[in-house]
Amino acid sequence: MKVVRGGTVVESHWSAPADLLIEDGTIAAVLAPGTDIDPAAEIIDATGKLVMPGGVDPHCHVGFTSGEFTSLDSYRECTTAAVFGGTTTIIDFAIPRPGQEPLDAAEKQRAKASEGLCDSALHACVVEWNDTTAGQLATMAGAGIRTVKMFTTYAGETMANEHTILKTMQTTRDLGGMVVIHCESDAIVTEAQNLAAASAAIDASRMSLTRPELAETASVAAILAIAESQQAPVYFVHQSTPAAVELVAEARQRGLVAFTESVAHHLVLDDSRYRGEHPERFVCCPPLRSADIVEGLGRHLFTGHITTIGSDHCCYDTAQKNVHRHDVRHMPNGLPGVETRLPVIYSHYVDRLGLSPSRFVELTSANPARTNGLYPRKGSLMPGADADIAIWDPDLEWTVTVDALHMATDYTPYEGCRLRGKPTTVLVRGTVVVHDGELADPTPRGRHLEAAPLDFDAAPNSSPML
Ligand code: URP
Ligand code: ZN
Ligand code: ZN
Repeated sequence: MKVVRGGTVVESHWSAPADLLIEDGTIAAVLAPGTDIDPAAEIIDATGKLVMPGGVDPHCHVGFTSGEFTSLDSYRECTTAAVFGGTTTIIDFAIPRPGQEPLDAAEKQRAKASEGLCDSALHACVVEWNDTTAGQLATMAGAGIRTVKMFTTYAGETMANEHTILKTMQTTRDLGGMVVIHCESDAIVTEAQNLAAASAAIDASRMSLTRPELAETASVAAILAIAESQQAPVYFVHQSTPAAVELVAEARQRGLVAFTESVAHHLVLDDSRYRGEHPERFVCCPPLRSADIVEGLGRHLFTGHITTIGSDHCCYDTAQKNVHRHDVRHMPNGLPGVETRLPVIYSHYVDRLGLSPSRFVELTSANPARTNGLYPRKGSLMPGADADIAIWDPDLEWTVTVDALHMATDYTPYEGCRLRGKPTTVLVRGTVVVHDGELADPTPRGRHLEAAPLDFDAAPNSSPML
């Protein structure tokens, strides 16, 4: 038995001084501050701290192969970095390689969960519809893999056509699942890339020009139309412009179950990084946008139109990024971020811009759990929830340096950034894994989490957005 004592508990809908009683890896009770407890209980002092549910990262690529590159981390490495950053659940992707079936990809990726220091769940992925796809989706739903990643870009790798997207939406809807989709019009992107290549302007510093904002909005509009035609729920990953977010918000007003995810780098970093010393380190899809767009996107954290914040973690290193730095069409896309997602967003939006700690928990923990069928076991500190807890020092000032982080790469996009607020002690199912910023228990204890059927009408305590 343990008690987290003296802190302010922050849930997605309230926060108040309270103590937490932990038994058998779960929250046994939320107690009035200072309530008498069994003297044998281990006390974890949280005086002056914020006691939050551990983060749930809804968008995390682990050991992800795309083209000729594989991102560098194992489950153990990725989840070690995650817990140092206050995240206690990651949701990874089982992306089939060309010719591989989705079920095979899911089974292989799921087998890695036990290497993790924390729990994980999976998004499946469908690239091409065939006679076996519906059956594979049903088998995966039966194993609690209910969300299905799709792409409207990356032709020849993972791009799906509209027939495949529509069929997958119908089928996942009927299985209590949801399509989660990367939207960029491949036609607009390809044309922009061809134009850039023709004028020898296709190196990493031109990344923004090769994937224009209109590519994203055009694709979001097309996918919303398909989802509405089928009344299928849909979740848009890494939306990077306010225009794209607003299209989804309008569809929600028309009654569609539709969600927006934004990722930390699109909310904090702008395209000036492509004019800096290491443009290759910032190559991701969609690309970083102008400062005005970043500000407009960030405003939607406050309007409520953004549902979740992910990391889109991809652990490539500078050497991998540099192999094709003169041609973005062949570079590995994506930024390392599972460890920095929470501190960067907390510092920028809670500490500096006044987002409430509860909304922070909603965006980074509770809503990712809700939209993935994991709530309230994850994303909450109510009795019965797993005791996945991040105890934050809201006043701790620190500078991000790659040497002090734990991701399996040689750089961080936030090098030198001054932040305020950091998780100092982190529990996974009641075990202290990080204490005072040190790894306290490296035992792999990760479990594959089975998503419950998604039922947004019936979700208890759900946000008005859900
Ligand atoms: O640049 C990115 N986002 N790379 C990872 C794959 C994806 O599109 O999510
Ligand atoms: Zn993507
Ligand atoms: Zn991604």
